[in-house]
Amino acid sequence: MIGRLNHIAIVVPDLVAAADIYKASLGAVVSEVNVLPEHGVRLIFVELPNCKIELLHPIDNTSPVFSFLEKNPSGGMHHLCYEVEDLYASMKRLKMDGARVLGDGRPKIGAHGKPVVFLHPKDFLGTLIELEQV
Ligand code: CO
Repeated sequence: MIGRLNHIAIVVPDLVAAADIYKASLGAVVSEVNVLPEHGVRLIFVELPNCKIELLHPIDNTSPVFSFLEKNPSGGMHHLCYEVEDLYASMKRLKMDGARVLGDGRPKIGAHGKPVVFLHPKDFLGTLIELEQV
């Protein structure tokens, strides 16, 4: 069901410093800062040949990643995003298996303008999973 790994999201305490680590130390191509108010984050994309890394920082204390940063003040891996061809069919199959879709259970438009849902980390080995329709 799942296809390519689309991105790995890392919540960071300082976006500019984080981008510099990826650019200067690791020699990666990084984007400008994108502000996504509807997701409560500022975000920098790191472009790798086979995947993206998303560096996330909360816009304010209502952001969905605010409490994560409080618990992980030096930053940490937040979620993995897998691509699926049919998001509704995937959700149906997962719900039949007892997996929990977060929020109101309906897809939202994600950071790339495509429908996404998040799955409960307790159902997936302690890892928050985002599914993105491709
Ligand atoms: Co994501």
